Amino acid sequence: MSASRDLEQLAWEHSIFPLVQIEELKQRGPMIFVEGEGVGLADIDGHSYIDMMGSHTRANSLGYGNEEIARAVYEQMRTLHYVGTVANLAEPTIQLSAKIASLAPGRLSRIVYVSGGSEAVETAIKLAKQYHIAAGRKPRAHKIIARWNAYHGATMGALAATDWLGTRHISEPGVPGYSHIPGPAHYRNPFGMADDDFADFCATYLEQQILHEGPDYVAAFIGEPIMQAHGVQMPPARYWQRVREICNRYDVLLIADEVITGFGRTGKWFAMDHFGVEPDIVTIAKALTAGYMPMGGVITRPEIADTLPIFRHVHTFSGHASAAVAALKVIEIKERDGLVEKAARDGEWFQGVLKKLLLDKPIVGDVRGIGMWHAVDFTSDKATKASFADDTVPAIVRRMQEKGVLVCAIGPSAFEMAPPLISTREQLAHAAEVAAAAIDEITAERGLA
Ligand SMILES: Cc1ncc(COP(=O)(O)O)c(C=O)c1O
Repeated sequence: MSASRDLEQLAWEHSIFPLVQIEELKQRGPMIFVEGEGVGLADIDGHSYIDMMGSHTRANSLGYGNEEIARAVYEQMRTLHYVGTVANLAEPTIQLSAKIASLAPGRLSRIVYVSGGSEAVETAIKLAKQYHIAAGRKPRAHKIIARWNAYHGATMGALAATDWLGTRHISEPGVPGYSHIPGPAHYRNPFGMADDDFADFCATYLEQQILHEGPDYVAAFIGEPIMQAHGVQMPPARYWQRVREICNRYDVLLIADEVITGFGRTGKWFAMDHFGVEPDIVTIAKALTAGYMPMGGVITRPEIADTLPIFRHVHTFSGHASAAVAALKVIEIKERDGLVEKAARDGEWFQGVLKKLLLDKPIVGDVRGIGMWHAVDFTSDKATKASFADDTVPAIVRRMQEKGVLVCAIGPSAFEMAPPLISTREQLAHAAEVAAAAIDEITAERGLA
């Protein structure tokens, strides 16, 4: 057996593969990568790809093999790799907090660290609940309102806010006190409303839900500023502005889950900056370290942090010094090389290229995106905007992979692209051309035109 088949055999013998149907995975096998450079990836069979997904998770914003980050982490590990948690801090962790405070929306400037996005959401929810107890105006506030199709993570508190990827129901009964309301969506929504009318309806719905649950019992509303589900759902600014007003009216904390959108993905440091809205709490992870180290965090306003005499919550690796150094270096590189501004500029250009190449295709319903985050939404019928119920979209994604471009299906009817911020226009244009070719081939093979 070849070395690559040996390794695949070992992977089958010793892995649990999250979120994939095992029968389906058996058809194609896991992807085993051996090397990466820039946006390029090589697998164990010698195939090369351009990674338009930021390492599948949208976390990898600076590409592979970054020498500067690797060296900074190495130096920190040699000097002081980790000093624990609670009030034990290392210098880079403090410097990172000051840096993040200078970039975060509005007055948000107090930070606690965790190891990833789910933990960040857990922490945000606990912070909100403990804030209300300490503030004393609504000491019984504990309910969380989240949104249909939201993804907030895999741990139990974050999962209860989640409504996507089929992970919630299998884990129920979960954490009580959560309810879900509709959130803005593009192209199609369950009520057949125009996009902007639907976004307005969703904001109004929040007020009704707070009244229904009882304002004294509602601690927080949580949402992704731009929802990922079904592909990059950019709402009108008015939606978040109304949500902010409604939360203020009922003393409900607004948690912006920026785990995907934070640190440049949308062409701003934080996606909430597109809407001119200051949340009360922001969760971060993923592109914070560009995936070079696992790290997440929660940012809040000083008066919220200062209300708590003690924050009853801790993780062993909170504020890990080597992860903090990776984050500091990642932010330094993004600032020095103007990568967030580049993401905004190139994102607009890339949208134009994608629209020009794809929108006229008989099965493409919508092309949307912002910064380095884009989605192509497919339909089997442009008149009704019906989703594909079969594997047409995964087949297009697989065909693109065969042609050396990695993207991800998102829901039954769209694929998503989250290229690293360092991607060149040439690489983006190539990805768009490969998408066009794959769509044409699958359309012809399945007689869909
Ligand atoms: C918006 C959002 N919140 C939370 C999470 C959970 O983060 P993690 O997978 O790092 O736990 C994710 C992960 O995709 C996410 O997209």
